[in-house]
Amino acid sequence: MTVEYREDASLTRSEDAILRRLLFSCFPHEPLFLVRRYLKERPAHRWLICDGKGEFVAHAAVHDKTAGSASGDIRIGGIAEVCVSAKYRGRGFARKMLTAVHAWLPAHGIPFAFLFGKPEIYSGYHLVENELRYEALWNPWRGQPMVKCLTGTPWPAGWIDLRGGAF
Ligand SMILES: CC(C)(COP(=O)(O)OP(=O)(O)OC[C@H]1O[C@@H](n2cnc3c(N)ncnc32)[C@H](O)[C@@H]1OP(=O)(O)O)[C@@H](O)C(=O)NCCC(=O)NCCS
Repeated sequence: MTVEYREDASLTRSEDAILRRLLFSCFPHEPLFLVRRYLKERPAHRWLICDGKGEFVAHAAVHDKTAGSASGDIRIGGIAEVCVSAKYRGRGFARKMLTAVHAWLPAHGIPFAFLFGKPEIYSGYHLVENELRYEALWNPWRGQPMVKCLTGTPWPAGWIDLRGGAF
């Protein structure tokens, strides 16, 4: 099964329903997925794995964001809603999607992958220890802020402002 990149805007109505089914099965505490495929901000980019029978079994969203920092604006790929259908977990599907995302971001001028997640799942990321400014959304399952530097550009020191909600 291969990882497919899709612009969010290209998803059809039926793909939207299939994706929301996957999202709600993986994040059952988020009833919003019953009606739409994002929580607060619509991500521009998605990576998907399909089972070949029309069902999405793995997904990662990416927000193309410009954050403020003490040393100027930085572009970040804000990774969100990484999930794999229960039946397909433990086979490297999440890793495979993230590898594709990590190649795509610098090729599109984005030097950092940023996410809120569980450290054990995201190897190669380091915890963000900067003062972080963002609008908190209620989500007791949101993980810790982490970043992966994808080019030679170092992660800036000092405050970081995500200019909006967490994702
Ligand atoms: C978390 C999740 C996406 C992992 O998907 P997966 O395809 O089974 O993960 P992979 O097999 O690609 O493993 C990726 C890494 O995560 C680690 N990992 C996966 N599940 C884990 C778990 N339950 N506990 C600890 N580590 C785990 C793997 O050991 C691997 O580490 P490595 O790259 O250092 O070898 C999947 O379990 C899921 O959808 N969970 C529900 C939604 C969720 O919690 N999403 C993550 C939000 S931060």
